[in-house]
Amino acid sequence: MTTFRLNGQEVTVRAAPDTPLMWVIRDELGLTGTKFGCGIGLCGACTLHVAGRSTRSCITPVGDVAGGEVTTIEGLDPEGQHPLQLAWIAHQVPQCGYCQSGQIMKAATLLKDYPAPTDADITAVMAGNLCRCMTYLRIRAAIKTAAAAMAERAENG
Ligand code: FES
Ligand code: FES
Repeated sequence: MTTFRLNGQEVTVRAAPDTPLMWVIRDELGLTGTKFGCGIGLCGACTLHVAGRSTRSCITPVGDVAGGEVTTIEGLDPEGQHPLQLAWIAHQVPQCGYCQSGQIMKAATLLKDYPAPTDADITAVMAGNLCRCMTYLRIRAAIKTAAAAMAERAENG
């Protein structure tokens, strides 16, 4: 049994401690926004947050998050109104959509580290999140839109 906080609520799961967090989230807890891509830490589709940092859940044993705080795309904003989500819609970023929850979760930590990211910042940080539909230019535009919206929000209190 492992207990941790998921999207603000305490959960206890039965999976063995070496089970990848991604499968626990999807299969035992039923949150399917976190996607299975490669399963070996190479594509970023399974990205979620552990203690507020983007983490590849396919290579993170659930035992490693015992007592910790995990956030998935479902918990990024309870109403689905995070500036990144709104920017993703405004720019019509997704194509097939499969990689996009991982892209947004990665972008959320990018904006913590780079509130006004340059193209180079975005390229460097997002490089490990692959999109077979090649939505990279729209992802970049949406990140910049979200950054501007967050800056405006901060300015206006
Ligand atoms: S599914 Fe985790 S990095 Fe690809
Ligand atoms: S939108 Fe299809 S893989 Fe990224």
